[in-house]
Amino acid sequence: MKTDWYKKAIVYQIYPFSFMDSNNDGWGDIEGIISKLDYIKELGATAIWFSPLYKSPDCDYGYDISDYRDIDEKFGTMRDFDRLLEECHSRGLKVIMDMVINHTSTEHPWFKEALADRNSKYRDYYIIRPGRRVKGRLQPPTNWASTFTGSAWERIEGTDEYYLHLFCREQADLNWEHPEVRQEMADILNFWLGKGVDGFRFDVFNMFSKVWPLQDDDSRKTFQKGAKFFVDGPRMHEFLKELNEKALSLYDSFTVGESFHPSRENALEYIREDNREFDTIFNFAHLDSDNIGGLKFFRKPFDLLQFKDGLFGPQKDSYGLGWNTLVLENHDNPRCVDRFSIDSSRFRYEAATMLAAVTFMGFGTPFIYMGQEAGLTNTPFRSIDEMKDPVSHFVYDLMKSYGMPGPLAFRFIRYGARDHARVPMAWNASVNGGFNRGHEPWQCVNPAYKDINVEKDMAAERSVFRFYQKLLKIKKENAAAIYGKTEEYDHGNRKIIAYSREHEGKRLFVAANFCARSTAYRMPEWVQGAEVLLNNYDRADISGTVIRFSPYQGVVFEK
Ligand code: NOJ
Repeated sequence: MKTDWYKKAIVYQIYPFSFMDSNNDGWGDIEGIISKLDYIKELGATAIWFSPLYKSPDCDYGYDISDYRDIDEKFGTMRDFDRLLEECHSRGLKVIMDMVINHTSTEHPWFKEALADRNSKYRDYYIIRPGRRVKGRLQPPTNWASTFTGSAWERIEGTDEYYLHLFCREQADLNWEHPEVRQEMADILNFWLGKGVDGFRFDVFNMFSKVWPLQDDDSRKTFQKGAKFFVDGPRMHEFLKELNEKALSLYDSFTVGESFHPSRENALEYIREDNREFDTIFNFAHLDSDNIGGLKFFRKPFDLLQFKDGLFGPQKDSYGLGWNTLVLENHDNPRCVDRFSIDSSRFRYEAATMLAAVTFMGFGTPFIYMGQEAGLTNTPFRSIDEMKDPVSHFVYDLMKSYGMPGPLAFRFIRYGARDHARVPMAWNASVNGGFNRGHEPWQCVNPAYKDINVEKDMAAERSVFRFYQKLLKIKKENAAAIYGKTEEYDHGNRKIIAYSREHEGKRLFVAANFCARSTAYRMPEWVQGAEVLLNNYDRADISGTVIRFSPYQGVVFEK
């Protein structure tokens, strides 16, 4: 029977490669995760989302799965996973698995068979098409672009045929038109639900359905050629309903979709409670408020109005119809204290806590990315060779191919790289930040660990972790913080963000200063006399309805 436990949930995301390496082989592992469950519990999280733990050749670090029913040996065994599940459940922590089913690894047995035997039934599992001869030269079947590489088509060696990959070459898109593929996917979900997992995060789900027949994209202005034929495709809603019917609805499972630039209308359709598709989806638009055109590597001065639009738009759209999520970081983004024009060398604590307060007091379920709760910072990578993410390398090479000097290209990459979030966790000041006992980690550590680490933060007078604890407690217990309707104030203010949440006569007022200077702000009359529930400074300088904020100060009032 379906319940709505997710509405009060606090989800903690673990990127298993880099969380905790218990056997000192350089890779994070399940045993390491188990050793930190009490820490996650202490923070106040109620659920964990694991980035992929399945077998994978790791071309895209777990997001290229070669066996959906097994655990990769670098992380442990299926027995270890079963114990992890038990250990989570015994602590009251729900378990959310990552489901990457838009594509499989090209090392998946289905794909290998599809290529090895033209008559294999697995050929129809993928999107394989003959190339086109243009002036005698073989060209891909369409002009679609992959998100990560150039053409979305890769030629199959020794043939004139191509397979579609909307991400890396090693991630072949599945053919969701084929009923057997959809059945396989439902079976995989049931396999994990049968084990007792509590839900899934679906990777780039709104690309499952493509427009058939496949055709060239003639649009002039498009961020990605072909997108209009593979984003929010015509059968998307049907496919999600089918997954529900055959798997998700058979259990009390929670679903959160990671979508790729969905239209506003579709975003709502995916999460409408009466639609029986997903419980919620991620919304990332506010995270583009410091880059140009959604391209993470191209920095621009932080635009608070854009941040507000991105943060509040989905809260308004979904309220009363479906559920929302609140995100500041994940494995695809740099650390939040080192973006949005923030100088973390001066305001790390203030910004980390203020950002958390304004984001997570909103309407929706908070998703916290490992390390964010201790205000971990970006890594001062010295060269592209220190970065492991294939996307960093692809974009770097691309920039150079257009004539950009290497050092300049590297500066761009370093601003927005996913690698920042993927370095080993800084647990303490011991070797490799306490991630392991000294074996060289798969990805270099952030040398800042000696100074910025979980242990030190927890013991500090101004501890990001302790602030998160207080914030999350409110978020779980205060009905207005969970269910309240969001109303934004002073949208046009370029320094201050302010909103209320209202539920059954109770009101919260959240206001914060997004600047490195102190700033005065006149609050609405009704806030006068309200109780300060949370504040990232020792005191709030209030006279009447005017609050004089210190740099990056954030305050939550209750009336
Ligand atoms: C989104 C995931 O979050 C990202 O890490 C991955 O590279 C792509 N989808 C492709 O699976």
